[in-house]
Amino acid sequence: MPYPVRFMEELKSRLSLTEDVGRRVKLTHRGRDYTGLCPFHKEKTPSFSVSDDKGFYHCFGCGAHGDIFSFVMATDGISFPEAVEKLAAKVGMEVPKSSPAEREKEKKRATLHEVIESACAFYEKQLHSPAGKEALQYLRGRGLSDTDIANFRLGYAGTGNTLKAELQQKGIPEEQMFAAGLVSPGRDGRDSYDYFRDRVMFPIADKRGRIIAFGGRVMKDAEPKYLNSPDTDLFHKGEVLYALTRASVPAREQQTLLLVEGYMDVIALHKAGFPFAVAPLGTALTEIQIQALWKIVPEPIVCFDGDEAGQRAAMRAAERALPILKPGFSLRFIFLPDKLDPDEYLQTFGTKSFSEQLSESQPLVWLIWENLIRGKAITTPERKAALEKSVEDTVSKIADPSVQNYYRRELRQKLWDITSASAKRKDGKKTPAKVKLPECRPGRDEGKMLLAYLLSYPNLMEKWLDAYMTVRFADKDIEEMVSIAGTEIMANPDITAESLQDLLTAKGKSLKPILPELEMLMRKERFPADIEEEMQERFRSLQLKAISEELEATAALLSDCLNEPPPELWERFSALQAEKAKILSELYT
Ligand code: UTP
Ligand code: MN
Repeated sequence: MPYPVRFMEELKSRLSLTEDVGRRVKLTHRGRDYTGLCPFHKEKTPSFSVSDDKGFYHCFGCGAHGDIFSFVMATDGISFPEAVEKLAAKVGMEVPKSSPAEREKEKKRATLHEVIESACAFYEKQLHSPAGKEALQYLRGRGLSDTDIANFRLGYAGTGNTLKAELQQKGIPEEQMFAAGLVSPGRDGRDSYDYFRDRVMFPIADKRGRIIAFGGRVMKDAEPKYLNSPDTDLFHKGEVLYALTRASVPAREQQTLLLVEGYMDVIALHKAGFPFAVAPLGTALTEIQIQALWKIVPEPIVCFDGDEAGQRAAMRAAERALPILKPGFSLRFIFLPDKLDPDEYLQTFGTKSFSEQLSESQPLVWLIWENLIRGKAITTPERKAALEKSVEDTVSKIADPSVQNYYRRELRQKLWDITSASAKRKDGKKTPAKVKLPECRPGRDEGKMLLAYLLSYPNLMEKWLDAYMTVRFADKDIEEMVSIAGTEIMANPDITAESLQDLLTAKGKSLKPILPELEMLMRKERFPADIEEEMQERFRSLQLKAISEELEATAALLSDCLNEPPPELWERFSALQAEKAKILSELYT
């Protein structure tokens, strides 16, 4: 809908681009303009400049460019009309409506918002009333504090028609209650009734933070476990993401956006320091939702439940994304072990372990490939041809020609690897597909991982004992466990992983801190060759850390004796430098 020119001119004159941008980005003066760190890409030195005179911002780093409307659209993830509306409201201007019908519709929406807001406040109040006692206990039992409850505006819908009575008392006509999806018309001449009864209520907000619907959970075992508001003028299930309003700012700041399955997962994650989690509302992920995620970060991470339904949902999300992939934009995936959902995972393994999962997310192309070869023995020419055909079928779903081209190349390469690898094997055993494991990142707890290898693959260890015995572990407990395990393996080379793990537990060394690492290895069990490669990398990276530390210390010593450095110090320094360079070249080739 075009806006009257006079209105737009007036609106622009009342707004200040630097003020709006300044609320999100710390700006400093540079000549007549301002500059700061670009909110649209990660950077350490400012290349984002804003000019009030010209009314434009421009990033010399990533090329982001636009005016105040595009800035608000991008940072709030809203449409142009919504941005106009928001900015006009800010400076006290009313947006002219184009037609009486449109105005009427807008008025109806506004009142619907009010009705739903009253219901939300009422549910919140009920939760803290005697009627809500059990519900409150339920939420506390799930680990939520009063602050969490208030933050997410959780509530309780009572038994009977309590909401209807409340809204009636406020003079709200029944038609409005129906339109808001809060009360259902009675059938066969019966009275209308509350849609949500005896449920814990999770309010669902739109992009601007206004409540538009609810999800209600039963407290006992009953069906359906969650009941969501029906679609209304304000609420279209497939277009909304739970907690998107509160997640979008931290997601942009940290360039991480996490999509999980359930309301409780979102809340648990926000509580645990992952404020960038959102969820769809019990339906398969839609194209509109993917686009909404992409407005915030280019590669949102999907982390559905670790059960089979979750895996299927992830695959469906992947297939939904394929046709709309575009350069730079994709999805990444995490699969939690043991059929856990994120809420349960956090409770079992804790925050640090979840961060590790986050850093190990896999790209979409990995999931697609895994899915193509799952459970297949690609051993005959016919089967190889069939796989080639399904690769082509999959790739052809990608509309963007450039992305399609790179997918074709990468999947064909994998196809080539797998078919030539199986040709080399003569013993008839199925060759596991080669999957690139996540690269070794510095700063991860290598020690724990190395212990986990030892405990999961005792028979691989003969070869690696030297490395284990010489490496320095930062954690004394880990070092002790490695030494116990190493001794056991030397004494009994045929020991199984289970008995080794039992043995350690019996010796009073709790395995709890490394359970997540053991879990991770169990998932990778299919690829023993990769495990060794990965171990090698981890040893190298530990060595690298040790060398870097020593290098730093040596450099400090050198600078202390500026004038007359002893020659052996210089020798040590250059030897360390050479060693570091060698490891680096091994690590990254
Ligand atoms: P789950 O069944 O995985 O529930 O549904 P959950 O999130 O683990 O919930 P808790 O921990 O038992 O409380 C995941 C999501 O699917 C939707 C809801 O959005 C839920 O959060 N869902 C589930 C429904 O819409 N209806 C249902 O009956 C069940
Ligand atoms: Mn759950």
